[in-house]
Amino acid sequence: MSKHRVSRRQFLNYTLTGVGGFMAAGILMPMLRFAVDPVLKATGKGDYIPTNQKIADITSEPVRVNFSYTQVDAWYESEITETAWVYKDDSGEIVALSPICTHLGCTVNWNGEPGHPDHFFCPCHYGLYTKDGVQVANTPPTRPLDLYPYTDKDGFLHLGKAKRREA
Ligand code: FES
Repeated sequence: MSKHRVSRRQFLNYTLTGVGGFMAAGILMPMLRFAVDPVLKATGKGDYIPTNQKIADITSEPVRVNFSYTQVDAWYESEITETAWVYKDDSGEIVALSPICTHLGCTVNWNGEPGHPDHFFCPCHYGLYTKDGVQVANTPPTRPLDLYPYTDKDGFLHLGKAKRREA
């Protein structure tokens, strides 16, 4: 038989420490998970978002293409809808432009101003962009419209996160 005997006091200390630790873990673990969980979740950022625009149907005339995705902001999820102006350039390359005016963020329209056909027009301060999204000199915008990267998946246009272009 062992000479080392556990006293009643030691036994109570071990038992209370064990039970206390177990209860503390039970309380703290859900709180820790609640705090860290959104950070660990995959956000889908950087992915290409599907649109219902068939690649084969894209012509040289810009068309408005809407697409939606779920945005996760910490614990808050929201459905975001964005728009791109999409067309094929002279070499057959797809161009997908952001409709957000680079002056102060209004929405530009293709052929929105009868006096300037074949331009993107921003009605807020009469901003003008050429078809490739480059700002027209002496109008308020100081840089081109942002450009969406794109990919073709199963014949449908998928768009990535719009990228800023410098003047
Ligand atoms: S917001 Fe477009 S021109 Fe000012």
